[in-house]
Amino acid sequence: MDCQILDGKAVAEKVLERVREKAQALSARGIVPGLATVLVGDDPASAVYVGQKIKRCEANGFNSIHVPLTADVTEEKLLDKIGELNDDPKVHGIIVQLPLPKHLNPEKILPALDPGKDADGLHPSNQGRWIQLKGWDEVLSSGIPLPCTPAGVMEILKHYQIPISGAHAVVVGRSSLVGKPLASMLLAANATVTVCHSRSNNLPEFCRQADILVAALGRPKFIKADMVKEESVVIDVGISRTPEGLKGDVDFEEVKSVAGAITPVPRGVGPMTVAMLLWNTVKAAETRVASD
Ligand SMILES: NC(=O)c1ccc[n+]([C@@H]2O[C@H](COP(=O)([O-])OP(=O)(O)OC[C@H]3O[C@@H](n4cnc5c(N)ncnc54)[C@H](OP(=O)(O)O)[C@@H]3O)[C@@H](O)[C@H]2O)c1
Repeated sequence: MDCQILDGKAVAEKVLERVREKAQALSARGIVPGLATVLVGDDPASAVYVGQKIKRCEANGFNSIHVPLTADVTEEKLLDKIGELNDDPKVHGIIVQLPLPKHLNPEKILPALDPGKDADGLHPSNQGRWIQLKGWDEVLSSGIPLPCTPAGVMEILKHYQIPISGAHAVVVGRSSLVGKPLASMLLAANATVTVCHSRSNNLPEFCRQADILVAALGRPKFIKADMVKEESVVIDVGISRTPEGLKGDVDFEEVKSVAGAITPVPRGVGPMTVAMLLWNTVKAAETRVASD
């Protein structure tokens, strides 16, 4: 059987259609959803990511409020700026682009965001709240902003009606940004979840057991055909810039001859991350309007 290509760009476009509908309904009431992007320093990759987010905002009827700060900004000044954005009624979502320069501790900065404006879904109180809910439907209907990349993966699985309940999902990577929250989401959706990391023994053996294999380790073309079960679903979260261009963590050409379905890089998980960011922002604007 041919391997199905899971087109994240197309799924992201579906999410963005719903985002635009909500943005238009808000605009009709005089409210334009606003996303503030805080970029500290001049890391070229971060500047590209923030640029993409601003472009997407503008293309979907959002106000974009860009806040560039120099790499030597003090913690106090950054916290003051976040406080101003928290108080600004035109701002419904805020992101602080990571990574931050070494002298700034994200564990101190991210909790300073108003949890109601947490566009990235990384505020510890939001993460703590949804993780305690039992089922995935309950998580989705809670309205709590979810971390964008893992939520985007769940949206791809839903769109392609990939059975999660009872499946064995193996997540390679345990970062707070991707691996850990995605493992919790899959668990809430009743998968049996194994999380692997750099200290896991027998990694290929675990990968070969996966009905759903998620690669989120940041090592280009790491997952080879002999690490993948036949007809399994392979989700490639990785994005690395290599001399051959953007590459995922999965050796796409090799693995597509074994897997039943696979996300490509680019046009896979990447576009979903930005779509979910806009989703979190428009939902935050709706919540704000409902409570005013
Ligand atoms: N598509 C998107 O929108 C999107 C969004 C976010 C991230 N990403 C990409 O996703 C990848 C992962 O991002 P991240 O932020 O989660 O990275 P990260 O914070 O560097 O975490 C990487 C994880 O992979 C594990 N790992 C590293 N090498 C390994 C190996 N050889 N075998 C098994 N596990 C290994 C690490 O294990 P330890 O914990 O033991 O160190 C860690 O848990 C990167 O390529 C990143 O660019 C893409």
